[in-house]
Amino acid sequence: MAENKDLEKIVSWAKRRGYIMPGSEIYGGIGGIYDLGPYGVALKNNIKKLWWKTFVEDRDDVVGLESAILMNRKVWQASGHEAGFTDELVECKKCHQRFKADDVAEGKCPSGGAHELTEPKAFNAMFETYIGVVKDEDAKTYLRPETAQGMFTDFKQVLETSRKKLPVGIAQIGKCFRNEINTKDYLFRVREFEIAEIEYFVKPGDDEKSFDEWLKRWEEFVLSCGIKKENLQNYEHPKEGLAHYSKGTTDLQYNFPFGFKELAGVANRTDFDLKSHEEASGKDLKYFDEEAKEKYWPYVIEPTLGVERLLLAVICDAFEELESRTETTEAVTEKEIVLHLDPKLAPVKVAVFPLVKKISKEAREVYEDLKKCWPAEFDESGSIGRRYRRQDEIGTPFCVTFDFDSLEDQKVTVRDRDTMKQERVEIKELKNYLFEKLNII
Ligand code: GAP
Repeated sequence: MAENKDLEKIVSWAKRRGYIMPGSEIYGGIGGIYDLGPYGVALKNNIKKLWWKTFVEDRDDVVGLESAILMNRKVWQASGHEAGFTDELVECKKCHQRFKADDVAEGKCPSGGAHELTEPKAFNAMFETYIGVVKDEDAKTYLRPETAQGMFTDFKQVLETSRKKLPVGIAQIGKCFRNEINTKDYLFRVREFEIAEIEYFVKPGDDEKSFDEWLKRWEEFVLSCGIKKENLQNYEHPKEGLAHYSKGTTDLQYNFPFGFKELAGVANRTDFDLKSHEEASGKDLKYFDEEAKEKYWPYVIEPTLGVERLLLAVICDAFEELESRTETTEAVTEKEIVLHLDPKLAPVKVAVFPLVKKISKEAREVYEDLKKCWPAEFDESGSIGRRYRRQDEIGTPFCVTFDFDSLEDQKVTVRDRDTMKQERVEIKELKNYLFEKLNII
């Protein structure tokens, strides 16, 4: 796994290669907000697509939802977020820096010396906003800090329209906002990010078994993104540290360059949310179990994951800096970066190079044909070695070179990013050849 110092290398590579860049950078940026460049958004979309296929399309017991980011303020009152979605904030009396109390060791300001911290005070991490033209308390609501509440408020309707019976899950991927006191560790703790989560409704009593199953499914999914098993571990929250709604939570931690930290988690939310929303809205949110002929609030198992955290973990796991391994006619002094992405997540699946510009027209025909099937790039500038390096850096699994022999034998050379093995493949067989290797979502 990447050492601590490597995060800096990843940050600079990600900016240089159009993966991740600071938001509003021309104005000096904005704390905890990042933009994803062309390759970054493609990788993130592929992660989301894989997640949706795995948990919604491939299962009969989970349906999808897209609920709105803005919800009635009463949702956040009933869910407990307005009163309790808080962090302990401390401020240095001397340098006026603010910190999350959990982040300051032994209650001392990290600037040291005579710096003294204030007593902690609760700080609500939801961003406030107002609906309509009048900015008063009646118009106030929040940008959602989690997608889960949409699944609870829409629970009855989704169940009725999808004609599903328990156990059933509602899945959603969407933007969430948290006004974090301190943002740090790059994409790890940001103020705007996406969560992919499922609220899985089960009969009370079946919750613990379901919890264990979801923990396994969650780990399998992360592994299917190409992450190495040795970089994952579980962390069970002690009872006294649980969120207000949880009976038990286990985090799936990833070995980020700054240590093992939460990547995803599974929580047992019991019947807390449905019960609270029924009490607050006056609407019956119980489930009628036809077999048992009884009505109850289902228990909810919630597997959740931060998409930006997974994006960062996928990049950290795939990132390798090595001594130059690519033959090139140009003098190469700098080290080489290879992004060993799982092919199904790679933003560009294949790149096509004419050996020289003279045969670009014929090579371009091969490229145009491949582009109908997959995101592809055509590159005719610089030495072949240089072109391989550009593609290795962005994680393209295969490069295809069209040379003078191709004009005669109708074959091209396919080069594998990880093994660097080269194979001659007939142009008419190329799509089948790549299709088998790309393991497309
Ligand atoms: N509905 C449950 C829920 O929101 P959470 O643990 O607070 O649980 C879910 O958040 C996931 O969102 C976390 O596992 C983490 O991956 C991600 N996450 C939380 N805060 C984040 C932040 N400030 N920046 C990036 N990702 C974050």
